[in-house]
Amino acid sequence: MPEQDGPEKGDEVNRERTEALREQKAAMRLGGGEARLKAQQDRGKLSVWERIEYLFDEGTFVEVGGFVELRSEHFGLGKKKAPGDGVVTGFGRVNGELVYMAAQDFTVLGGSLGEMHGKKVATIMDMAIRNGAPMITLNDSGGARIQEGIGSLCGYGEIFYRNTQASGVIPQISVIMGPCAGGAVYSPGITDFVAMVKGTSNMFITGPDVIKTVTGEEVSKEDLGGPEIHMAKSGVATHIGEDDESTLNWVAKLLSYIPPNNQESVPVVPPVARTTGLPFSLQDFVPSNANKSYDIHAVIDAVVDPHSFLELQEAYASNVVIGFSRIDGISTGIIANNPKHLAGCLDVNASDKAARFVRFCDAFNIPLLTLVDVPGFLPGVDQEYSGIIRHGAKLLYAYSEATVPKLTVVLRKAYGGAYICMCSKHLGADMVVAWPGAEIAVMGPKGAVNVIFRKEIAASDDQEQAAKDKENEYIETFANPRMAASLGYVDDVIEPDQTGHFVRQYLWSLSDKHVERPIRKHGNIPL
Ligand code: HXC
Repeated sequence: MPEQDGPEKGDEVNRERTEALREQKAAMRLGGGEARLKAQQDRGKLSVWERIEYLFDEGTFVEVGGFVELRSEHFGLGKKKAPGDGVVTGFGRVNGELVYMAAQDFTVLGGSLGEMHGKKVATIMDMAIRNGAPMITLNDSGGARIQEGIGSLCGYGEIFYRNTQASGVIPQISVIMGPCAGGAVYSPGITDFVAMVKGTSNMFITGPDVIKTVTGEEVSKEDLGGPEIHMAKSGVATHIGEDDESTLNWVAKLLSYIPPNNQESVPVVPPVARTTGLPFSLQDFVPSNANKSYDIHAVIDAVVDPHSFLELQEAYASNVVIGFSRIDGISTGIIANNPKHLAGCLDVNASDKAARFVRFCDAFNIPLLTLVDVPGFLPGVDQEYSGIIRHGAKLLYAYSEATVPKLTVVLRKAYGGAYICMCSKHLGADMVVAWPGAEIAVMGPKGAVNVIFRKEIAASDDQEQAAKDKENEYIETFANPRMAASLGYVDDVIEPDQTGHFVRQYLWSLSDKHVERPIRKHGNIPL
């Protein structure tokens, strides 16, 4: 029997131990120290702990591996202090849901990734995968820790491997909140979403100095790999935030549309009713003249739950619009041609953008709504040389492969291969409906008449009139949805202003859709 089985009053040793632990943890939270934290602040950046506390629901973040330390001693590293080896890892709640995180601390050895840093990130990723919760990485780092050589390369390799194993299993979001250089960019490159912060973030494989040495080109960091470049030109960025806070707000919002893993069903929130009527009629909004443009965003907003559309890659390949929305509270992926840009046609970049989004939604059980107004694939030598065959094929593949509910509304033009590509019945769409003005044909009237009636028109006395007559005949036959509907490729022709109502009905009817595919290791999507 112990002498005393209740708590011993005033055990000084234990109290001192607890106090020492508190002091140690407080010191660890200072990362690289006050001066470096101040430098971070002066650049308009939050510290790593401020970021964590801002994103996670109050008091819910739990650190994992905080005591892990730098192991290498090369090139003076042994004399350096590196709390947590430059990264904070752990989990907590965002919008009440479990989320895992690795957040690099630039104040510790420039957030550079060494052996133990890499191990910590890999460990937390393993936990996220095992427990089926989203993985978020806050990147703010000088890249591979040069003094650790293979130790840091191994760290990156282990992370890339896990990014790949996690792909399609849990959502992965990278937030670039500082530099992200060299091979470090490939972890974000594999993840599903990449948010960048205006003014403080950049991403590149080789920086301006190396580029100048090798190619002689002179370019600033911002012009090489700033957020605007990755949004408008490379297509790497999904979103640009104004500052750390607004970028993290966006991450929390994004998470609300996606399930925590591929086994869970799509998030459903209580539907928000439209309190006022639409500011315009869809029937009047979309011009009947197929050569006139309009902005598809207005149509999207009119169909989905009010203020629910979260657009992704907004300024990249704007001829196609993608994003999450809610329809009767159900998260739904939207893919829509936008006639305001390049007449809404499909080109290399738009095909890539839409295909990757379709695959994300399919992997995470998010239904797809496709709004079609497409004149075709963008013609041009540049497009052909850039591999429009390969890239357009990705979209065909992605839609054909997808087993989630697939709804398609043909608003106006749907020509040629692009008609097939935009989730037609032939690619397994569950419901395809068309507006009365839909034109489903191999090509537009002018081009078609030029091909099939060229000789006849050339032989006529009044060539202009003959061409017009033939065009009208073609329009009468094809510039309406009747033929497609009579063959069952269009399930219904609906009034434009009833689109929202019908889409809700279809989505509801497909909520238990289940499709089994033949067993295979994986397909071979054209890359
Ligand atoms: C070790 C690094 C580091 C690195 C920065 N530091 N990057 N230490 N390895 N990769 C250290 C600096 O020495 C400095 O330490 C502190 O972090 C802050 O860095 P500064 O240069 O003072 O900050 P700043 O002026 O803001 O410049 C940030 C920077 C710059 C642009 C990121 O540090 C930089 O260019 N770093 C090197 C980037 C790089 O080439 N990385 C390797 C990429 S190759 P002290 O103690 O002096 O304050 C790569 C391969 C990965 O990543 C392959 C994976 C497959």
